[in-house]
Amino acid sequence: MIINLISDTVTRPSAGMLEAMMAAKVGDDVFKNDPTVNALEAKVADYFGMEAALFFPSGTMTNQTAIKIHTQPGDQLICDKYAHIYNYEGGGVSFNSGVSCKLVDGERGMMTAKQVEASINPPDFYHSPLTTLVCIENTTNKGGGACWDFEELKKIRKVCDEHHLKYHLDGARLWNALVKKGEDPKAYGQLFDTISVCLSKGMGCPVGSVLLGSKADIDKALRIRKVFGGGMRQSGFLAAAGIYALANNIERLAEDHKKAEEIGELLGSLDFIKKVEPIETNIIIFEIDEEKMSSEEFLAQLTQNKVSIIGMGQGKLRIVTHLDYTDEMHAHFLKILKTIG
Ligand SMILES: Cc1ncc(COP(=O)(O)O)c(C=O)c1O
Repeated sequence: MIINLISDTVTRPSAGMLEAMMAAKVGDDVFKNDPTVNALEAKVADYFGMEAALFFPSGTMTNQTAIKIHTQPGDQLICDKYAHIYNYEGGGVSFNSGVSCKLVDGERGMMTAKQVEASINPPDFYHSPLTTLVCIENTTNKGGGACWDFEELKKIRKVCDEHHLKYHLDGARLWNALVKKGEDPKAYGQLFDTISVCLSKGMGCPVGSVLLGSKADIDKALRIRKVFGGGMRQSGFLAAAGIYALANNIERLAEDHKKAEEIGELLGSLDFIKKVEPIETNIIIFEIDEEKMSSEEFLAQLTQNKVSIIGMGQGKLRIVTHLDYTDEMHAHFLKILKTIG
C-alpha cells in the first residue's frame, strides 16, 4: 500500500468528479463564454456573499493578482513571516508587483492587530515604502494548519480601515478553517477586499483557484489574469470539478482533521519525537529528537514502508491528510509508526 502524505494536493479526481467533468458544457472562457466556469464563479461568489469571482489555474496566481490589484510598484504589504505569498511564490510579490513585504513575527503564521498597526509606515514619511495592503493566510500552511481567531481578523480590518489599507485573505485552505470552526463563509466575504480559495487542495480537484472580490476588483483581475497568461479556454471541464467539490467535499474535511489529530496523538507518544505542534486541521508539523533518531533515518524507515512525508526545513517534518488518504491507509500508517524506532 502506497501512502502519500506530502500534501493535500496529491489527490486524484474521484469517479463522481470525473463523471461531472466529462459531462461539463464548455465554451471559450477567455471570451467569458464557458457556462460551467461562469456557473462556478457565480456559486463561489454566492457562497462567500461577494460580488464577483474569477477562476484561475493556481492559488499562486490568485494571490499574485490580488496583490497586483491592491498595490503600486514601490508599495509595501504587511504579512506574517510564514506567509505563503512571501516564502513560496517565487518572489512574485516583487517580480509581479514591485512590492516589498514587511514581515511580522507572529505565532504559527498569525499576527495580532497590534503587530499589524505597528508595522505600518507613516504615509507622510516619503523615505519609507508606502504601506497599502495587509495579507493574511487561513489556515496557515507553514503554521501547521492553524486557524485564526475571527475576532482578531475583525480587529485587523479596523486597523486597515483606519489606515486606508486593503485586506487580502490567502484562503487556499479556508474551507478547512470554516469546517473546523463552524464559521459562516459570508462573514469572511464581508470582512475582506479579496479572498483567494483553492479547489486543488483539500477539495480534491485536479486544478483551480478562485479569486473573490468586488465587481470592480474582479474586472481588474480579468486583465491581470490575461497579462499573467492565466486565461484558459474550455476550462469548464476543470470548473465542473470545482462545482462537484463544493457540493460533495467540504463537510468531509472533518474526517481529514480527525485523522490528523489521531496521527498527532500517536506521534506525541513516541519516544523519538521531540515536539508535535498543535493540530487544528489537516496539517501536522513535528520534530524528531535527533539524539534518539535522525530525521533522515525516520524518513528512510517511512520510505521502506512506502510512506511519503515532507521536510519543512529547520528540523521540522510535515504530514498532510487528505481525501485520498483512506481509513485503511490510516490504520496501516498508525501501525507502521508504532514499529519505527
Ligand atoms: C496557503 C497557500 N497559499 C497559496 C498556495 C498556492 O497554491 P498553488 O500551488 O495552487 O499555486 C498554497 C499551496 O500550497 C498554499 O498552501
